[in-house]
Amino acid sequence: MIAPNTSMTPTPGTPSLGMAPTIEVRAATAQDLGQVIAIDTEVTGIEKVDYWYELFHRYGSRTLKQRSFLVAADGAEIVGFIIGEVRDWEFGSPPCGWVFGLSVKPSSRLSGVATLMLDSICAGFARSGVKKVRTLLARDNGLVMSFFRSQGMVAAPVIALERDL
Ligand SMILES: CC(C)(COP(=O)(O)OP(=O)(O)OC[C@H]1O[C@@H](n2cnc3c(N)ncnc32)[C@H](O)[C@@H]1OP(=O)(O)O)[C@@H](O)C(=O)NCCC(=O)NCCS
Repeated sequence: MIAPNTSMTPTPGTPSLGMAPTIEVRAATAQDLGQVIAIDTEVTGIEKVDYWYELFHRYGSRTLKQRSFLVAADGAEIVGFIIGEVRDWEFGSPPCGWVFGLSVKPSSRLSGVATLMLDSICAGFARSGVKKVRTLLARDNGLVMSFFRSQGMVAAPVIALERDL
């Protein structure tokens, strides 16, 4: 499991992080799933309980080394999650890290939580030996685009294609 424990002390007075002194980024546990589902439901407006349990089964703590499902914990409260994996030679590209799930609780945003989680998952990818991280996002999701651009990510030399079935 690529799951380094990372923590930070938020800027004093940061309102969204309240009284808690430290955010810890760690591997998700089964006990965290209820709060992860609640964040995802709040952010996307769709509750997907079966999806999250299946994802945890595949990416949670008992799974393969190249997969990572991390949460940001503010004490007992889960304030964000990030999910990714190293994919080998997909579409002919050398192995690289992919981030495919990222959300921070609205009340905990703009305090560096997503930055901390991305740093943590990228550190795990780097330890696996890959040199690049990629993600996919909706073209009209300006918020997520602003976040990834702030982290130094730029357009990749690949494009996504689709058709109706
Ligand atoms: C994108 C998201 C993960 C950012 O989380 P966060 O913890 O607030 O991000 P950070 O505090 O680490 O922000 C880092 C940088 O991102 C950029 N950023 C973050 N939120 C921003 C906003 N609302 N507007 C513009 N830039 C923003 C800024 O450059 C920021 O740096 P700064 O605070 O020094 O200006 C969070 O807003 C979120 O969960 N959005 C919904 C995600 C989503 O749609 N998920 C479903 C599909 S996967």
